[in-house]
Amino acid sequence: MTTTPISSNAVSDVTIKKLDAPLGAQVKGVDFAKPIGGELKEVLIRAWTKHLILVFKNQLHITQEQHIGATKIFGQPVPGASRSYFEAANIKSNLLSQHEEIIMVTNMGPDGKPAMENASLGSGEVVWHSDNSYIDEPPIGSFLRSLLLPKDGGNTSFSNQYLAYETLPADVKSKIKGAYTKQDASRNSAGKLRPGLEAPTCLEEVPGPNHPLVRRHPISKKSALYLGRRRDFPSQYIVDWKQQASEKMLDFLWSHATQSRFKYTHIWELGDMILWDNRCTMHYRDPINSDQLRVMHRTQMQREKPICA
Ligand code: OGA
Ligand code: MN
Repeated sequence: MTTTPISSNAVSDVTIKKLDAPLGAQVKGVDFAKPIGGELKEVLIRAWTKHLILVFKNQLHITQEQHIGATKIFGQPVPGASRSYFEAANIKSNLLSQHEEIIMVTNMGPDGKPAMENASLGSGEVVWHSDNSYIDEPPIGSFLRSLLLPKDGGNTSFSNQYLAYETLPADVKSKIKGAYTKQDASRNSAGKLRPGLEAPTCLEEVPGPNHPLVRRHPISKKSALYLGRRRDFPSQYIVDWKQQASEKMLDFLWSHATQSRFKYTHIWELGDMILWDNRCTMHYRDPINSDQLRVMHRTQMQREKPICA
């Protein structure tokens, strides 16, 4: 149930409670429709670095401008890399974003009805990924707000990639030290071929930048596994490795990194907002019942070239 917020954003009223999970904290006592003072901003920024994802409840009443304002606490908002695909789909809805900093993440089709596939993430499974790893400078974080939810499905899971790195066997850590992977730009996290691109037929044809497989977080200074994304072969590969060795290592790393011991699963309520750090987490979304609409708004924060650990 959503309740009317009573917060005045006084630092003394704000609590940050670690979730019973390997990452994440819930922040209580914040209302993004009201001004946030400098001291509270510092508290929130520190909490984000410590917990990797922050959950805020009861933010259904805030405006799109206030969502962008909340994003600015953590970084400079930037338009989503996939926004142009979505705009081209010409969906008409009063939940459409009015600002280039907000992208609608939805299973809504151009007729306003739920669809299995659309220009966004559709209704199917959204595989484990880190946002926009297929561009040179991926956003440091994303901030997702739920506006309309299906009765079932559409839970979102997040996984702690510092822990994934720390728990790797020592010989694997030394083998992948300094390695880069090709980040497959051909298909989105719902598996759809991006408009204007052709499906690669061999590894050499996979488009996208090379990013470090282990990246250093510039604020926490910790190392995280940075897998980014991988679709069916031919997709991600370790640059300068033999194909078989690269496939074998990536099979191992992906199954290691996506274990449930590193994961928190969020069951959405209307007005929930989740902020995640794309430098040290991955996320996954369960399929949605395609008879039901799901509409989320997402902002993203400034882009940054991944730093090799
Ligand atoms: C995203 C994403 C999952 C979801 O917005 O980047 O992957 O649960 N969303 O909507
Ligand atoms: Mn995503």
